[in-house]
Amino acid sequence: MIIAVDGPVAAGKGTLARSLARELRLAYLDTGSIYRAVGAKILEADQDPGDPVAALSVAESLGPGDLERPDLRRESVGLAASTVAVNTQVRAALLEFQRDFAKNPPDLADGPAAGAVLDGRDIGTVVCPDADLKFFVTATPEARAERRHKELIERGDESIYARVLQDLKDRDARDSQRVTAPLKPAEDAVYLDTSTVEAGKVLETALDVIRSRGL
Ligand code: C5P
Repeated sequence: MIIAVDGPVAAGKGTLARSLARELRLAYLDTGSIYRAVGAKILEADQDPGDPVAALSVAESLGPGDLERPDLRRESVGLAASTVAVNTQVRAALLEFQRDFAKNPPDLADGPAAGAVLDGRDIGTVVCPDADLKFFVTATPEARAERRHKELIERGDESIYARVLQDLKDRDARDSQRVTAPLKPAEDAVYLDTSTVEAGKVLETALDVIRSRGL
């Protein structure tokens, strides 16, 4: 079974995808971490995330350990990730790894996986267009910015709500307007709006959809 979970930044897609993985014994891939790893390595090398040659060379040399870097969740890394993600060749270089993960999911700690759940921006449209089920997770920009702002404060980072909201809107614009694999719901995606719904309820709704389809 392959489940695709797409949506904009801080909509709650990671939380939903991780919970689905746990409930259904699926391997989980956060595809954003791949783009973040490319962004982090570019920043580390003092290169420009908008430089297509540098971005492609980093994308082609990415190793599994790069997805575990401690700096991946930084706001600056997220912004760099959304810049490298505009690059068509970078996206092509990262596609095979994601498709292979979906088709041949790695074993879980306690045995084989029953399939895979991937979250990102283009899983239902490009990476796994034949996924058994596709969710598109959304929330208002304000609800998402508030969530992200709280997260940053709790983590001990400095954060200004207005700035977080603006960065998030910039990232939405870049993700939705790019030419290759823009952020958009697949035609057969099930919408889940998390603006005023807590994570447990979102998971319950998603599991209901899965059961109602006999998956
Ligand atoms: O999901 P996350 O915020 O970690 O992703 C970081 C950036 O990586 C996104 O803003 C987006 O530009 C890019 N991305 C993408 N396609 C994916 C996953 C992430 O373009 N499947």
